[in-house]
Amino acid sequence: MPLHISGAADPALIELPWEIPLEAWPEEHIAALPRGLSRHVVRFVRHGDGVIAVKETNAEIAHREFAMLRELQRLEAPCVHPVAVVSGRTSPSGEPLSAALVTEHLAFSLPYRALFAQGLRQGTLKRLVGALSVLLVRLHLLGFYWGDVSLSNALFRRDASEFSAYLVDAETGDIHPRLTNGQRETDLDIATTNITGELLDLQGSEDLDDGVDPFEIGARLEKRYRELWSALTETTTHTSNIRMRVAERVRQLNELGFDLDEIDMDETEDGTAVTIRPKVVDAGYHQRRLMRLTGLDVQENQARRLLNDLDEFRAWSDNPDLDESHAAHEWLTTMFEPTVRAVPRALRGKLEPAQVYHEVLDHRWYLAEAADHDVSLPVATASYVKNILPTKDDEQAVLGRSLAEMTAELPALTEEHGHTYTARDPYANDNTYAWGRVPEPEESEPPTVRRSSTRIPVTHRPAVPGREDDDAPTPPTAPTTE
Ligand SMILES: Nc1ncnc2c1ncn2[C@@H]1O[C@H](COP(=O)(O)OP(=O)(O)O)[C@@H](O)[C@H]1O
Ligand SMILES: [Mg+2]
Repeated sequence: MPLHISGAADPALIELPWEIPLEAWPEEHIAALPRGLSRHVVRFVRHGDGVIAVKETNAEIAHREFAMLRELQRLEAPCVHPVAVVSGRTSPSGEPLSAALVTEHLAFSLPYRALFAQGLRQGTLKRLVGALSVLLVRLHLLGFYWGDVSLSNALFRRDASEFSAYLVDAETGDIHPRLTNGQRETDLDIATTNITGELLDLQGSEDLDDGVDPFEIGARLEKRYRELWSALTETTTHTSNIRMRVAERVRQLNELGFDLDEIDMDETEDGTAVTIRPKVVDAGYHQRRLMRLTGLDVQENQARRLLNDLDEFRAWSDNPDLDESHAAHEWLTTMFEPTVRAVPRALRGKLEPAQVYHEVLDHRWYLAEAADHDVSLPVATASYVKNILPTKDDEQAVLGRSLAEMTAELPALTEEHGHTYTARDPYANDNTYAWGRVPEPEESEPPTVRRSSTRIPVTHRPAVPGREDDDAPTPPTAPTTE
């Protein structure tokens, strides 16, 4: 059978060395990025100005997984995006080779194992499991039965102080018009068993912090899942003040990061009460609001943080009557864009722009606390770019420079950077593109403008100060150093 590629209209795919087993592909094609555990051979491959993930598997499974991911993408589920299935591969001597499933590499994603290079802390682990439970609820709401929920089959992206989870392995999944409670329970059971098992493995290899109880973390996923599921789907009965009840329900869902699109309201038989049941809920409440106001496409918790900053900006602006959309434009051009532009090109692969902004806000808060006076955003940015960002991924180094040393240099940084960003050419292109790409040689052309960093919003419980499970400091949280 001759080589057959079905999927994206991308002729360049045919130029990849499909006649060689993936394991032996020449290094020049390979992008060295963190990868999770897998049964199949999976490698990341440079392709055009991006990166693709290639997984070798049999043709039937590859086609099935491709179709599943396609459908999930159509439903706007948080998952990796399918590109193509390659079949009919043969070596030059005519040996048949495995088929391959090609997906877009999910930029800035981390397999959970990459997060314990410096030891997986209890707090981080709780956030990962929180993100995974949100993912599972969202998939279940869409009618997707996963069948193999685990930490290894998800990818995580930093999302303000939390994580967002994305489905990466859909091989065992199935899409139904609606899941039965039995199907949901089975998935939940599998999730708990797998996660507990994965953590016991880590414990066995001494990669887990002492004090982390794998069984407790497994149980936690289930608890989180059940809480969110009932908040999003539960029928409530009310005898008075129905308007207020509905408004309350909407607000509660918005807080959780969801929009209530359709609701069922029914009078009880005897006409003395009304039941309310959310019918269609959409994830990404804050994400959509920020997108509407600024065009920035970021993750849900990042959006929440940016919107708070925007509200504050508006409250402090010289013109309190400024309407929201004008304020948003001003905030974007005088606060957000100059901050992310201040990051040198060489450091842009470290974090997404919205995540950098979030961390700069945290850093500013810590500096101001330590210095006991307000610190302007340009100064906080300069300090962050100088002291924190270059040493990201290296906890020792981050801790190496004390807050005291950083505050001592604030007068000099203020002298240098002033209190506001100096206006730049208003027609200059937004420079927030090209983040997260594989570093390219300096002399190459800059890639085309692409502001979006995430297509799919993922939502979380808001980071409520002092919530029972949170062992991080109250917001703003410490700069993430795990
Ligand atoms: N599109 C992608 N973006 C980023 N990482 C990916 C992608 N596809 C696969 N991976 C990485 O490869 C690992 C294995 O992929 P997976 O589909 O789970 O393979 P298997 O079916 O063999 O378990 C994942 O845990 C993830 O780390
Ligand atoms: Mg897998």
